[in-house]
Amino acid sequence: MSENWIELEAKHFFPVGKRQPVTLVRGEGTRVWDEDGREYLDFVAGIAAVSLGHCHPEVVKAVQEQAATLMHVSNYYYTLPQIKLAKLLCEQTGLDRVFFCNSGAEAVEGCIKLARKWGKEKRDGAYEIIVAEGAFHGRTLATVTATATEKYRAPFAPLVEGFVRVPFNDIEAVKKATTGKTVAILIEPIQGEGGVNVPDDDFFPKLRAWCDEAGILLMADEVQSGVGRAGKLFAHQLYGIEVDVMAVAKGLGGGFPIGAFLAKEHCAALSLGEHGTTFGGNPLATHVGYTVLKHVVDHDIPAQVAAKGEHLERRLHSVADRHPMVKEVRGKGLLWAIEFDREAAEEAVRLCLAEGLLANNVKPTALRLMPPLTVSEEELDRAVEIVDGVLGRIEAGAPK
Ligand SMILES: Cc1ncc(COP(=O)(O)O)c(C=O)c1O
Repeated sequence: MSENWIELEAKHFFPVGKRQPVTLVRGEGTRVWDEDGREYLDFVAGIAAVSLGHCHPEVVKAVQEQAATLMHVSNYYYTLPQIKLAKLLCEQTGLDRVFFCNSGAEAVEGCIKLARKWGKEKRDGAYEIIVAEGAFHGRTLATVTATATEKYRAPFAPLVEGFVRVPFNDIEAVKKATTGKTVAILIEPIQGEGGVNVPDDDFFPKLRAWCDEAGILLMADEVQSGVGRAGKLFAHQLYGIEVDVMAVAKGLGGGFPIGAFLAKEHCAALSLGEHGTTFGGNPLATHVGYTVLKHVVDHDIPAQVAAKGEHLERRLHSVADRHPMVKEVRGKGLLWAIEFDREAAEEAVRLCLAEGLLANNVKPTALRLMPPLTVSEEELDRAVEIVDGVLGRIEAGAPK
């Protein structure tokens, strides 16, 4: 890769993120190419955002046609794509009302504001939100407060008041933390950034029952787990429950920025002037979102993901059997982590990259795989083969 780009990046950017030493210039399906024409299998997929693969013809057409028709006007006016997407989202989720924004953090921020407003109206001013250890909800001040990672939060204190943290997957802890001040629980059905943590099958049903009993809202952060990624359209559906409020983003745009939060009518507490956005829900983003969601629904992508996920799970377990350094593989659908007995994830990412596979070190000890939902079985097998070889090299003491 050209040194020039690395130097320019280092000169002009806040150094907040670590990049892999590769400049990507083109993509198609599960594959991307760097500026030297080298091909990679993309098992990062824009952090679980490129749901239908790179440059999916329907998504490209949607961008091109809508960009050439009407890109942006503002929410002072009615525009058709956002109304079509709102209707489809509500039909598919069983939720009643939607607000469109541009990112996951904005979607979760909206959920938090909605909960506070609802608490004022319906719960005597209750405002505390229960959140989980290992959670990631975004980087705005409120969502970073809801996020568990200390190093993301500490530099920005004082943080937003009113968040109470409990262990993930622990219903008794939720019960203990619930008081007269509690208004909601905000939780990922599968934790993504926390390392792909899947709760016990009965945790969400118990959580739903507790929220009903205590009269608090169950708010699902489906930013990473939603839109087919977990083998259901939304991951909370894996547990056979409904939620009161939900945040979506990432996969909804297939790579185009869009976010949304939705709520049931009984808690749709926001009214005139209480929330707003310039770009959120613009015709371009919502036409693309509509095209992606319609494709996902019409082609029953979640069922395909579930089948591919079972295949990937089997292959990953056989990798685990061959490599003592693998402590656990966990995930659902096409969101998986391989947990190591050592801090080898960064090295694994580097070696995978050299072998033509983009993967992510979600934790120092865990490698995350999240290919486009359209990935083929052959591509899954090839990626597993690369990971297998890489782990073999690490165990043999690969040169640093
Ligand atoms: C569960 C979850 N919520 C919220 C976010 C924040 O989304 P964004 O980066 O689009 O603001 C993420 C991003 O990784 C996420 O995984």
